[in-house]
Amino acid sequence: MKYTRTLLLAVLLVLLAACTQPKPSTVGSDAGIEKRIEQLLSRMTLAEKIGQMNQVSAGGEVSNYAEALRNGQIGSILNEVDPVKINEFQRICVEESRLGIPLLVGRDVIHGFHTIFPIPLGLAATFDPALVEQGARIAAVEATGQGVRWTFSPMLDIARDPRWGRMAEGSGEDVYLDARMAEAMVRGYQGEALDANALAACIKHFVGYGAAEGGRDYNSTFLTERQLRNVYLPPFEAAVKAGALTLMTSFNDNDGVPSTGNTFILKDVLRDEWGFDGLVVTDWNSMGEMIPHGFGTDRKDVACKAVNAGVDMDMMTFGFISHLEELVASGQVKESAIDEAVRRILRVKLLLGLFEHPYVDVDAGQAVQYAESHLDAARRTAEESAILLKNDGILPLKAGQVGTILVTGPMADAPHDQLGTWSFDGEKAHTVTPLQALKERFPGQVNYVPYGYSRERRTRFDDIVAAARRADVVLVFLGEEAILSGEAHCLADLNLIGTQSELLVALKAAGKPVVATVMAGRPLTIERDLPNCRAMLYAFHPGTMGGPALVNLLFGDVNPSGKTPVTFLRTVGQVPMYYSHTMTGRPYNNETLLADIEPEAGQTSLGNTSYYLDYGARPLFPFGYGLSYTTFDYSDIALDKEAYPQDGTIRLTFSLANTGAYDGTEVVQVYIRDLVGSITRPVKELKYFERVPLKAGEKRTLEVQIPVSELAFFGLDGVTKVEPGGFQLWVAGDSASGQPVSFQVL
Ligand code: BGC
Repeated sequence: MKYTRTLLLAVLLVLLAACTQPKPSTVGSDAGIEKRIEQLLSRMTLAEKIGQMNQVSAGGEVSNYAEALRNGQIGSILNEVDPVKINEFQRICVEESRLGIPLLVGRDVIHGFHTIFPIPLGLAATFDPALVEQGARIAAVEATGQGVRWTFSPMLDIARDPRWGRMAEGSGEDVYLDARMAEAMVRGYQGEALDANALAACIKHFVGYGAAEGGRDYNSTFLTERQLRNVYLPPFEAAVKAGALTLMTSFNDNDGVPSTGNTFILKDVLRDEWGFDGLVVTDWNSMGEMIPHGFGTDRKDVACKAVNAGVDMDMMTFGFISHLEELVASGQVKESAIDEAVRRILRVKLLLGLFEHPYVDVDAGQAVQYAESHLDAARRTAEESAILLKNDGILPLKAGQVGTILVTGPMADAPHDQLGTWSFDGEKAHTVTPLQALKERFPGQVNYVPYGYSRERRTRFDDIVAAARRADVVLVFLGEEAILSGEAHCLADLNLIGTQSELLVALKAAGKPVVATVMAGRPLTIERDLPNCRAMLYAFHPGTMGGPALVNLLFGDVNPSGKTPVTFLRTVGQVPMYYSHTMTGRPYNNETLLADIEPEAGQTSLGNTSYYLDYGARPLFPFGYGLSYTTFDYSDIALDKEAYPQDGTIRLTFSLANTGAYDGTEVVQVYIRDLVGSITRPVKELKYFERVPLKAGEKRTLEVQIPVSELAFFGLDGVTKVEPGGFQLWVAGDSASGQPVSFQVL
């Protein structure tokens, strides 16, 4: 008896010790930093603490903010990029405020600062985290060179509805790809060491924002905890593990609870489960927007709800600065909650070294903008990100044999539009368009006939068609303006806008080879356009160096290797359609139900399975798809075992051969299917990818290792774990190819 009691006591003590053990810092804080935080905190008045929690958008003269900065009423500003002004802001804080706490200066540096890289959806299409990390590093070097130390990026919202304009800003539809891109961008922005070039990452928008009903921005979402945990949360968790310093709450309400007041996601998951000790900022006025949501009566009420849910900093609602003191006085908010928020804010400022180095060297910072190496990386990224969707063999064009080139289409010479959404600091003057690149490369051979989006421009059809007849090849650059994607820029019609499709028809009729290049912020529904061109290259808005990159691809200096990071639909009515859907009880391709019906064949009332009578069941292009000028062949696919223990590692070997005439790079993709689970499981899930360069004719044996723990999911019992049973695995060049091999998990 006595022995049992002692044992019980020992167990209790161990448990208690485990609970009181400080969790390791996700953002990399240490005892020295924590001590400085406590010292500062002990000297701060409540008003000064609340001031740190207030973020303000700058604009106009420094003097507009001087008094508030001096009084410690602003902890962070956003939207100031003039390094001279930023230095002056910092000087006021450091030299004239009572405690000398420097400012955290934020900016939306989303896909480059001055040197603009492809939009994030295009970055994802590279399937190249190392290159994406390099791009984020370059963005950090340029932005910090001007005094910006915090970017509101990466956006990790899984997006499965291309009507939603913000699909442009994320990595697309897939959990695994999104998570890998998230880690790469966090590492790139923040750098190895948090030095003077470290740009604090802000992972956003937490959470579920991309599932907006109807693809209309800011709209409600209705995600279950299981969907959150299996699809929407993992990229955020991966980014937290990669050391992301900050996180932004989202605008949407999920199942009735706006994120900015959602204790479950902000406390239970983010703080308690993941141990995140970085700072949480609201989205722009997302605290205030809880009033129109009907989640709070007034600004004081929503400020109370937000801070108690775990928000540390208020972006542009002015709810904290106006009401937190009275909320603390009335006991609705504990001062300990304020202290916790301020600790997180100071932690980020200390980690960034702002106390030691609040100022930026203006001249040195200027010198790194648009550096040659930055432009070079932007070009390479644009090259890797473009996706070849169709090629009847006309590409690559032979530079020595093209003769006269007709260049036309609204994106041929649209420097602003090719930069894409959220390129605040990118400049037209530094952007190289396809037209510029072509003229430089083929002096005297390019005939440019401008063509706009609007109907009036139709009158030019005759001119363009006549010019096409005189040309040897027609390069038409189509797509959508930057302003048609991004925040609040959603569309219900995803066809090429204006008369672009008609232009393509007219060009085809001219009888000369037509090569189309599309630049857009989302996968447009281009099925009707494909027959009217002999080849189509698809680039998500490719940034500053888009022109040279696309020309290099068209003329074969570089072999296309980008893959679709999102399913391309045949028609908008198919939304949502994504590759990792769960299986219905009546799958469209179930042989027994559909003995001899090809669902794409057209209208039929037969089958009783899950598909559209008019558009079948398949997309235009599946996730992970993209052609090359060469071909690849997978063979000898084998697993090292038939059954794996839960803590095992799957070893897959296969041969990959370049069977064509060009050197090229294949994006090898490994998908799995968990055949039976406590809940229905996706028909395929990406679990690995790798870019493999191969010379023409080269064949290599490759090995891929996937820890069995990667197969875990949040099942019926509310636990994330691997469930034993049968699995299938595919290794292929896209999500719709390959033959499965089977294995068991014990
Ligand atoms: C967007 C955020 C952005 C913020 C600051 C908001 O409207 O939703 O993604 O970071 O503005 O500009």
